[in-house]
Amino acid sequence: MRFLKNHHMEIHIISVLPELIESPFQHSILKRAEQKGLVKVFFHSLRAYSKDAKHQSIDDYAFGGGAGMVMMVEPIFNCIAHLKQSCGEFDEIIYMSPDGDLLNQKMANFYSLKKRILILCGHYKGVDERVRTHLITREVSIGDYVLSGGELAAAVFSDAIIRLLPGVLNDETSALTDSFQDDLIAPPVYTRPAEFKGWKVPDILLSGNTPEVEKWRLAQSVARTKERRPKLWDENE
Ligand code: 6GU
Repeated sequence: MRFLKNHHMEIHIISVLPELIESPFQHSILKRAEQKGLVKVFFHSLRAYSKDAKHQSIDDYAFGGGAGMVMMVEPIFNCIAHLKQSCGEFDEIIYMSPDGDLLNQKMANFYSLKKRILILCGHYKGVDERVRTHLITREVSIGDYVLSGGELAAAVFSDAIIRLLPGVLNDETSALTDSFQDDLIAPPVYTRPAEFKGWKVPDILLSGNTPEVEKWRLAQSVARTKERRPKLWDENE
């Protein structure tokens, strides 16, 4: 386990509202991951990179008109340049946006192997397109619906990555048996009591026959995947 020590992952998050994302990292599994030194999450306030020290503005009206403000390229450029200088290069610079690539478990696995990633949270009507063409290496969305900003999406994305880092979960097999980890969704689980209001736990789970239990769980996973995620099943069959 020694090699894990000097290889913690760094996640840097740039936001106009860093306070909005800090709290999920201060509890439970994500907090423990940081305490164990497996990940370090840095929050950077974009306003600190505004050219306008007094008002700290980072957005402006859209050229061509229309409702909504647009985040300016210069503060974002300066922020990224400063971070590259002080922290080193980033493996990837990700812009959270509803029109980005849809986050899935495979993507979370991919990013959990990176050393240092930067996540830019959009706000208002989004960022000046030149940020996307020149400064960003990937765009990620967490689903086909619109949030008021990229912050909650960045927290979701980071959570999906961090829990996969070796040593974060107590029982390391528990990430391996997650839904989607093997392109199957998880089987049903039960705990005591074995019967509640006449609602019974399947007999097989009380049998103590581990190989049969495993067979049953796999069959349940397959049946559930076919029923609930037919596309996922077809892609991987
Ligand atoms: Cl990454 N950002 C925003 N603003 N809305 C979203 C999203 C991201 N993913 C889904 N909806």
